[in-house]
Amino acid sequence: MGILKQLLTILLLFGVTVFCQYEGDYFENEYENEIDNEYPSIFHHIPSVEYAISHSVTPAECARECFCPLTSPITMYCDHRKLQRIPSIPSHIQQLHLEYNDIEAVPMESFVNATALKEINLSHNKIKSHMIDNGVFAKLSNLVQLHLENNLLEEIPYPLPRSLERLILGFNQITSLPNRATEDLVNVTMLDLCNNCLEDSQLKEAHFSNMRNLMQINLCNNRLQSMPPDLPISLMYLSLENNSISSIPDNYFQKLPKLIAVRMSYNNLQDVPYNAFNLQNLVELNLGHNKLKQIFYVPRSLQHLYIEDNDIEVINVTQMCPSIDPLNLSHLTYIRVDQNKLTAPISTYAFFCFPHIRSIYYGEQKISANQQTQLRTPVFRRYLTAEEYEEAEDDHEEHVPDHDQDHDHIEREEDDYPDAYLY
Ligand SMILES: *[C@@H]1O[C@H](CO)[C@@H](O)[C@H](O)[C@H]1NC(C)=O
Ligand SMILES: *[C@@H]1O[C@H](CO)[C@@H](O)[C@H](O)[C@H]1NC(C)=O
Ligand SMILES: *[C@@H]1O[C@H](CO)[C@@H](O)[C@H](O)[C@H]1NC(C)=O
Ligand SMILES: *[C@@H]1O[C@H](CO)[C@@H](O)[C@H](O)[C@H]1NC(C)=O
Ligand SMILES: *[C@@H]1O[C@H](CO)[C@@H](O)[C@H](O)[C@H]1NC(C)=O
Ligand SMILES: *[C@@H]1O[C@H](CO)[C@@H](O)[C@H](O)[C@H]1NC(C)=O
Repeated sequence: MGILKQLLTILLLFGVTVFCQYEGDYFENEYENEIDNEYPSIFHHIPSVEYAISHSVTPAECARECFCPLTSPITMYCDHRKLQRIPSIPSHIQQLHLEYNDIEAVPMESFVNATALKEINLSHNKIKSHMIDNGVFAKLSNLVQLHLENNLLEEIPYPLPRSLERLILGFNQITSLPNRATEDLVNVTMLDLCNNCLEDSQLKEAHFSNMRNLMQINLCNNRLQSMPPDLPISLMYLSLENNSISSIPDNYFQKLPKLIAVRMSYNNLQDVPYNAFNLQNLVELNLGHNKLKQIFYVPRSLQHLYIEDNDIEVINVTQMCPSIDPLNLSHLTYIRVDQNKLTAPISTYAFFCFPHIRSIYYGEQKISANQQTQLRTPVFRRYLTAEEYEEAEDDHEEHVPDHDQDHDHIEREEDDYPDAYLY
């Protein structure tokens, strides 16, 4: 195990510590366990709702097909039961689990009494858009979360209640996002549309800015060729991985000053405006697996920069960091630059501009088909804590990394590349 791997581990432990601060979240905890710890992600921090459990309800009422635990009488579990239709939902139920069934329709009758519902999980079913009764969700005026991922929807459900905060629609066949569909979504903070069939033309009609509380939008694995228009100013997390986006318009992000994380790996970006990412709150930027040739301005807030698998030949540090303000230093801790066309390590000036840097991951570079270069990794240790320094030091003495091991490491990293689909 190379020194880099060790340092990466330190970095990632740091990442984990950061996200533990959000432990209060009721449903988030489930997701956190699934988060790939190899990736210092900050993408899943949008707090979710907490439900107070009311003890005044009679626990008796439960649909025959389902299970209502005595310890949580507001929850009804009807998941993994090969159900073809939705049972009648008793009026006191707040959380409804219907995931992993063979449900094709969402009829009004099932929900007539279900006014207390706050969360419905209908993921992994066979629901098509026209099989959802008109207005069935809109009547649920307490609904906060709606999971419809892994169904057969062709369009975003409409109408929806204005109480809704999280709408998960990934892994459907959505091609249509009419304007009226976003009008009611004023309280939505999280919209997941990854793994659908969205194209630029449909997004033009969408009017995302209606969703004025939106913090996270996931549009990964769609068919976009340009940046989504009209995103709301409230946005903090933007996921656009694996589309075919080839450019970022000048000043595009100026309208999104709250952005914390931008993920655009696996697109067709060839160049980005030099100042594109001059954003005061940006912490994570992932532009890996594109066709970039040039480096760009790195904002002081940025901590993690991923630009692996691009066509960069030279990383000019002066361009990333045109000036150093000793009172306002850059926060960058990690840069990943493997699989570019670098022939020399980044100038050590980088360590003055980015004094918090823990590692620059060079991996292998793609110089030409037969001639792969491996650059030794300079690591700047001045700002590591005493323990981190010792750990790194010990490791360095024990294991001198050889080519093969590092190669292994790269492959593992690839495998561990997390699903973009985090929320
Ligand atoms: C709704 O509640 C009423 C009153 O409790 C009950 O008579 C009726 O059967 C319920 N309807 C359904 C579909 O559960
Ligand atoms: C809904 O079901 C999916 C499985 O499809 C699961 O991953 C997810 O955690 C569930 N969400 C909630 C909020 O229960
Ligand atoms: C929207 O969210 C706010 C804050 O959570 C809440 O007070 C308000 O009632 C919600 N709006 C609707 C229509 O439910
Ligand atoms: C990108 O999306 C395509 C389908 O659109 C899929 O086949 C491919 O596996 C995805 N690639 C990544 C890296 O997620
Ligand atoms: C790096 O960029 C700066 C500013 O654009 C430029 O003045 C300098 O010549 C560049 N250095 C190299 C080695 O290309
Ligand atoms: C640090 O720099 C950023 C970006 O240039 C600027 O917006 C911010 O106000 C500066 N903070 C301080 C304390 O000078």
